[in-house]
Amino acid sequence: MSDNIEGKVVVITGASSGLGEASARLLSADGARVVLGARRHDRIEALAGELTGKGGKAIAVTTDVTACEEVKKLVDAAVQTYGRIDVIINNAGLMPQSPLERLRIDEWDRMIDVNIKGVLYGIVAALPYMKQQKAGHIINVSSAAGHKVRAGGAVYAATKHAVLALSEGLRQEVKPYNIRTTVISPGAVATELPNSITEPDVAAGFHKFYEEFAIPADSFARAVAFAIGQPNDVDINEILFRPTRQEL
Ligand SMILES: NC(=O)c1ccc[n+]([C@@H]2O[C@H](COP(=O)([O-])OP(=O)(O)OC[C@H]3O[C@@H](n4cnc5c(N)ncnc54)[C@H](OP(=O)(O)O)[C@@H]3O)[C@@H](O)[C@H]2O)c1
Repeated sequence: MSDNIEGKVVVITGASSGLGEASARLLSADGARVVLGARRHDRIEALAGELTGKGGKAIAVTTDVTACEEVKKLVDAAVQTYGRIDVIINNAGLMPQSPLERLRIDEWDRMIDVNIKGVLYGIVAALPYMKQQKAGHIINVSSAAGHKVRAGGAVYAATKHAVLALSEGLRQEVKPYNIRTTVISPGAVATELPNSITEPDVAAGFHKFYEEFAIPADSFARAVAFAIGQPNDVDINEILFRPTRQEL
């Protein structure tokens, strides 16, 4: 399946840990040229260095996805360095879950800014290039929480439902430009994500759940590689996967 991955220029937001990092490693091993964006510059620099040391092509660009100009600079860097952009993975996100009655407005704002507006800014940055190329692939990251709402997770679920809605609208709109769209909805995958929960009782519950149920981040990377690796006339629009043992 790696046939249609080799040589592709893939921009990944949230590449400093978890799902983004795992995707960068797998796609680089499959011959993609990866452009890594995140705020923790030391981490993406180290990863780019590691991938380059193994014979891959990788650059790191410090990016906060809540700033549209920074996301544009990330994508511009891909085009300046490698001449084009084939794929963007709008992956950066956070999950500070808490019941609505705790009124964590700061965290709701943050989730809306990163999980929804960050995805929109990735589209803003990549779409003009992809339209011009008449080729490209936009991969957005939703969640099982984009399909099921659970008490205590309303705002996170709302942001991930929004990503599903945006992805379906995008899918229909970019047909004339030969652009593929995929939205991937993972269940529990072992990453740093539960560390973004600040309410101690909620965090304790999630850490326990993740320790028991979460599967390795490669699971996500393989889903990404599956979607990208298809022949150009095959558009994998939605992938929902969970740990086999996870119910909701
Ligand atoms: N793990 C799961 O169980 C799971 C399940 C469903 C969906 N997801 C989704 O998968 C995506 C990746 O999460 P993960 O599980 O890999 O968690 P993670 O290990 O915490 O990684 C989150 C990534 O997002 C980046 N990020 C956060 N805020 C950012 C900002 N303002 N600007 C740029 N980058 C930012 C972080 O980088 P910096 O901090 O360095 O900026 C980090 O690289 C998220 O959208 C999450 O909602 C995860």
